[in-house]
Amino acid sequence: MAIRIMTVVGARPQFVKAAVVSRELAKDGYFNESIVHTGQHYDANMSQAFFDELGIPEPDINLGISGGTHAEMTAAMLVELERAMLREQPDMILLYGDTNSTLSGALAAAKLHIPIVHVEAGARTHSATNPEEINRICTDHVSSLLLACTTENLKNLKREGLGEKSFFVGDPMLDAFMTFSSRAVEPMLISLIDGSAVDLPERFYYLTCHREENTGSDDVLGSILRTAASFDFPTIYPVHPRVKKQAMSLLDEMGSDKVTLVEPVSYTESIYLTNHAEQVITDSGGLQREAFFAGVKCTTLLDFEVWPETMVGNRNILARPNRDSVLSAMGKQQHVDASYAPFGSGDASQKIVEMIKRYIKEN
Ligand code: UD1
Repeated sequence: MAIRIMTVVGARPQFVKAAVVSRELAKDGYFNESIVHTGQHYDANMSQAFFDELGIPEPDINLGISGGTHAEMTAAMLVELERAMLREQPDMILLYGDTNSTLSGALAAAKLHIPIVHVEAGARTHSATNPEEINRICTDHVSSLLLACTTENLKNLKREGLGEKSFFVGDPMLDAFMTFSSRAVEPMLISLIDGSAVDLPERFYYLTCHREENTGSDDVLGSILRTAASFDFPTIYPVHPRVKKQAMSLLDEMGSDKVTLVEPVSYTESIYLTNHAEQVITDSGGLQREAFFAGVKCTTLLDFEVWPETMVGNRNILARPNRDSVLSAMGKQQHVDASYAPFGSGDASQKIVEMIKRYIKEN
């Protein structure tokens, strides 16, 4: 009988990782995968577009839960995920990353004694106020099989006493980047202001900024936008729905045409922007790694490191959200050592599936 594995996803970066792993899980009939979408990201360009473009099987269940406070969202997901797990009786739960969907899946499964595989285990910011850090730590500590993207992450897990169930497999984001890069085409950018088509400038910077740390106050996001408006080339900024109104009103007050706010882009469009940008400026953990894979210089608008592996040879530098700090980081020349591959070699999804099979045989 095929092993019933339930994958819980909810947010953009999880769709990307699930795309490559689900494909691998489907290969030999060993697994019967069901996909549960919590609904955390629900706009078409934040969710369905990813399923279509990346060929992810349609979710078997969509819980339609999104928004609210962290507690409201997590609690609602917890109740519904428990119901789904009781109904479907999966043999294992597969979770990715550090979102509220991840945490809810972990808590529901742990209480039902269903073994959990956590992909992207062991990432740590050591910031007690970062909401994703809480999700990561809790999920790792109730999981049965911890699969790390880097050996640094594996070390974190060992330090926390989780070494026996932890393994380095590499980063499925690298698998996705390698798989889908050839399909990256020039994006159809749509202006957030008036819905018109935006031509991609020949030389541009690629900015993404959505985290609570940078969008919680107008002062911080305003400072980031003013900084971008002072760059030597235009900046393309696809805006997360949570920041839409705030970014539009701040830019309107500034009256600059150097920053172009556009609707969220698809995965392959984002890869195209990364590959062709002068530099990337971001607070996204995924984009920091994608810039690293592409060999494009990155400045990270956070005061903690999520992926220290990328912060070598000036390839990715932390900056405070102000002009001096950002320009100073961007002004440093990067040195790329092509032989340095901390995220593995693009076969993480195969290794993830092998490790799950091994776990099942041994337990
Ligand atoms: C979440 C993750 C973050 C990840 C990001 C990826 C948590 C705690 N954080 O942050 O780690 O980097 O996803 O993009 O889970 N909204 C919409 N439409 C959508 C999605 C969101 O309008 O399709 C709005 C909602 O009002 C929502 C707000 O954006 O309340 C914030 O979304 P939420 O899912 O809470 O967190 P993210 O900021 O997306």
